[in-house]
Amino acid sequence: MSATTLPASDAGRYSYTGLQRGLHWLMAAIILAAFALGVWSAYLVVGTPLRRALLDIHKSLGMTALVLLALRVACRLALGEPPYRKPLDTLSRIGAHMAHGALYLMMLYMPLSGYLFSASGGYSLPWFGLFSWPRLLPRDKMTADFGETLHHWGAWIIGGLLVLHGLAVVWHVFVKKDEVLSRMAP
Ligand code: HEM
Ligand code: HEM
Repeated sequence: MSATTLPASDAGRYSYTGLQRGLHWLMAAIILAAFALGVWSAYLVVGTPLRRALLDIHKSLGMTALVLLALRVACRLALGEPPYRKPLDTLSRIGAHMAHGALYLMMLYMPLSGYLFSASGGYSLPWFGLFSWPRLLPRDKMTADFGETLHHWGAWIIGGLLVLHGLAVVWHVFVKKDEVLSRMAP
């Protein structure tokens, strides 16, 4: 029997809650957009108005992800994860937990390293033109360069993890033909 033919109450038992699914997809959209804008801006000449505008949106999205992450982690701790109707084998379960843990870590690392770079470099910290985030660090070139290096390498790590995450979903849907995607269906 597929998840769609299960009684609503039974199907719900094996899915993340609506709030958890909503946060996953909202944050996925925000993070993928921030990633794309970050990569685009890397190809533009430093100081041009387009690069500045893109980075302002990039920073606004990144800081939004940081705030949402706090809510998401609180939900995860309070609500846990649903059981698998057909339990995963041990290796897949450990692999999934490690990959998801690494994604949570990188969702914290990326905004923090971006903030470190921008705040200590004396750069803007806007939120969609409505207000500026407080600058909690003194201006210091070495710290800013360090933050930039952390952010740059972090971009490769989260990019790699997201490719793995996408491939794992494709594997579940097309090879294993199980219900993993329906657990997080929008
Ligand atoms: C856009 C394509 C994406 C698809 C198709 C997708 C799909 C999924 C699915 C099906 C699950 C549930 C896995 C399970 O039940 O074991 C999941 C969990 C998860 N996804 Fe994604 N995802 C996407 C993007 C992202 C992005 C951009 C992020 C953030 C960096 C992300 C972070 C996570 C995390 C941390 C979990 C674990 C949730 C938990 O157990 O608390 N996903 N995703
Ligand atoms: C989920 C959050 C974030 C993701 C996924 C992300 C991703 C990226 C990527 C892929 C790049 C281009 C790679 C590179 O040039 O090295 C980049 C660049 C950049 N990001 Fe982020 N970022 C995030 C959050 C932030 C935040 C919160 C800030 C600042 C408050 C920020 C500031 C910057 C800046 C200033 C650059 C340009 C780097 C340079 O000129 O070397 N990012 N980001």
